[in-house]
Amino acid sequence: MEMPNDSIEKIHAEVISCKSCDLCKNRTNAVPGDGDSKASIMFIGEAPGRNEDEKGKPFVGMAGKILDETLAKVGLIRSRVYITNVVKCRPPGNRVPTDDERQVCKDYLEREISIVSPKIICILGRTAYQSLLGGNSILGNRGKFIQKDNRLYFLTVHPAALIYNNKLRKILELDMETLAREYRRLELT
Ligand code: URA
Ligand code: SF4
Repeated sequence: MEMPNDSIEKIHAEVISCKSCDLCKNRTNAVPGDGDSKASIMFIGEAPGRNEDEKGKPFVGMAGKILDETLAKVGLIRSRVYITNVVKCRPPGNRVPTDDERQVCKDYLEREISIVSPKIICILGRTAYQSLLGGNSILGNRGKFIQKDNRLYFLTVHPAALIYNNKLRKILELDMETLAREYRRLELT
């Protein structure tokens, strides 16, 4: 919901003390989004993992390392993008967040998108694809741009998926190249 006096700082403060769903019970830290609140690209993952839960920051573990390296390879700088997740608290054992948890947490994500107002929203993996676009097969749709409700989305695989399937590394790199190219094109217009 868009509110005139909303800000990233306000959302972050609310997230940090949020008790709106049961995921608050097992967390060490809630994990608000991170990065440039005026970024042209926003990345959306699934949920914090163990490292993120410990540090209170998104994508700081193994998946984060892969994301950072891939961004660097295509000339995108992490501190100049905005990175967040569908849910802001770690599901126990890293299980996929439930529909209810996603629904309850979605207001924060919508507000982040409204404020950052990115030119491109990059969906990382199936959970974000389902939650934002109602999609299912990320492998069948990765590398594509989708225009919906005045927003431009780009779909790719989740960096954590590479940990278990090294073939996806090339795919993620290829997609990030596509994303970086479009980003540069939009920045020039
Ligand atoms: N995986 C995610 O989806 N998000 C994180 O922040 C870390 C790992
Ligand atoms: Fe609140 Fe989202 Fe954390 Fe649930 S996951 S407690 S809704 S911040």
